[in-house]
Amino acid sequence: MRITLILLAGAATGMAASLKRTVLKQHNRARALHGAAKLKWSNELAGIAQSHTNTCVFSHKIDGDYGQNIGWASAASGGDDDAVNEMADMITDAWYGEVSKFTEYGASTPNTARLGEWGHFTQVVWNATTEVGCAYSTCNAGAAHMFICNYSPPGNVGGQYAVNVAPKV
Ligand SMILES: *[C@@H]1O[C@H](CO)[C@@H](O)[C@H](O)[C@H]1NC(C)=O
Repeated sequence: MRITLILLAGAATGMAASLKRTVLKQHNRARALHGAAKLKWSNELAGIAQSHTNTCVFSHKIDGDYGQNIGWASAASGGDDDAVNEMADMITDAWYGEVSKFTEYGASTPNTARLGEWGHFTQVVWNATTEVGCAYSTCNAGAAHMFICNYSPPGNVGGQYAVNVAPKV
């Protein structure tokens, strides 16, 4: 009997580990600034994210009780290392960066007409969220990466902002 090892699986796992480390580090760093508890990684949420990024359709797709941030990055090389770096920038600059737009701390339901300006930030630091799972895919023939993070329990729940989004400590 011959046994053939499948090396591709090993490579994929290494990249997945790097993505997971980056996602947790950047989320938990941002959350600590707002007194929010650390997130843990969810393979289930990441798997759901992966099945959606694989379509390269840049839109929200929520099929269950979880929250979602999505992003799209133009990628010069399309490489996996670039993608992990882009994920880090997306979390810290694009998503957490919306902190400068949010002013309604203490309101149980802020003006959600402005959700598009700060909704990624409030999900990143939402205290009741305990798990995150993210994925990316290379899209547009290598010209772009699509990113999704799914969150559970979901953030941005009306009536619960005041107890979940604290000002910077
Ligand atoms: C976030 O939740 C943790 C654990 O439930 C709690 O100790 C902490 O005070 C909360 N932080 C905020 C900002 O409410």
